[in-house]
Amino acid sequence: MKAIFTPAEIRKDFPIFNKVMRGGNRLVYLDSGATSQKPRQVLDAEREFYEQHNAAVHRGAHLLAEEASIAYEGSRKILADFINADVDEVIFTKSATESINALAYSFGNSAANSRFALKPGDRIVVSILEHHANLIPWQQLAKRTGAELVWFDIDDEGRLDQSNLLDLINLRTKVVAITHQSNVLGTIVPITEIVKRAHEMGAVVVLDACQSAPHFPIDVQALDIDFLAFSGHKALGPTGVGILWGRLEYLNAMEPFLTGGSMIETVTMIDAKWAAAPKKFEAGVPNMAQAVGLAAAVTYLNNLGMENVAQHDRDLTSYALKKFAELNGVQVIGPKNNIDRGAVISFAIDDIHPHDVGQVLDQYGVAVRTGHHCAWPLMKRLGLVGTTRASFYIYNDESDVDALIEAIGHAQKYFKV
Ligand code: ALA
Repeated sequence: MKAIFTPAEIRKDFPIFNKVMRGGNRLVYLDSGATSQKPRQVLDAEREFYEQHNAAVHRGAHLLAEEASIAYEGSRKILADFINADVDEVIFTKSATESINALAYSFGNSAANSRFALKPGDRIVVSILEHHANLIPWQQLAKRTGAELVWFDIDDEGRLDQSNLLDLINLRTKVVAITHQSNVLGTIVPITEIVKRAHEMGAVVVLDACQSAPHFPIDVQALDIDFLAFSGHKALGPTGVGILWGRLEYLNAMEPFLTGGSMIETVTMIDAKWAAAPKKFEAGVPNMAQAVGLAAAVTYLNNLGMENVAQHDRDLTSYALKKFAELNGVQVIGPKNNIDRGAVISFAIDDIHPHDVGQVLDQYGVAVRTGHHCAWPLMKRLGLVGTTRASFYIYNDESDVDALIEAIGHAQKYFKV
């Protein structure tokens, strides 16, 4: 595998890789699908904000308030550029989960004549691949409004089955909310036809980019979507900060999810007029240091180059899939080739429960996620109680895959499979 950048060098930026794990092992961190590790540059940016600039943004008349506001709004611009969006279209939330809930509640709060209002007979389309964050908010919105929730299935390989696209997305469809990449199977969903059909039918498209935005270039204009959500903590950033992007004309026509300070133009005792986006969606003092930390995170990714990050993921996934194909008694759950596939490999070992696998791997310093991966309906669809999932990122290399494969061998011996 030809190195685009050197993960061993990258690991030096991440203090956590100095940690000695159980049994004196080094950390083999293969759980970036759940949360990524954080480079010193992100930790420093947060610390510097608190040490040098801390004040409530958009409020004070003093120097610190001015500096904090500049840092916060500068971070918004960095995030906007990261996804090729207009700066006023980027909203800081606390997480991708909050971003998607903000949309679902906003749609649910719409006046009956709004294009976002849902009523009995309307449709919301998702897929069986969704993790709970992009399923439950829509399922609950459907329950509150009487709209119908329908979903794309998958084929035997774990790829989205679009054969009934024209039936699923019809004139009754108001919202299509779909994952860009499955957090369980690694499947990257080709959305071009979905977006085209949704727009022809007058529906809006919400893209859940939790697993894609940290891993490959995102251009919201080229994708032609209407809304996008991702979390900072999977993209080298801090916890407590997420992104909601939406087309400005839609954001300005929508109802806010949270109300309070900073999101108003005028207020009386009995009414309030909302500020324009993005302020309308950022009630209260926001997670300022976290936004600054996320900007440092995407700057780190930009310095590597998102095309390079994507290529690194592809190369490492190819290597890992080849190694998995050589194993006996181990099945990859999801696409076995590296076409339209992210750096996530779910697998099952014959006769060993994923939780037992995870515990044995941990004895060798290998950190993976086990269980239903917050995608319970997908597990039921696959007829599984759970999987073991290895997810890779910029700090992983072939030595990590080799450590995983070796630890799987130990698990098989331990349980005598
Ligand atoms: N959706 C996150 C994961 O896949 C939590 O681990």
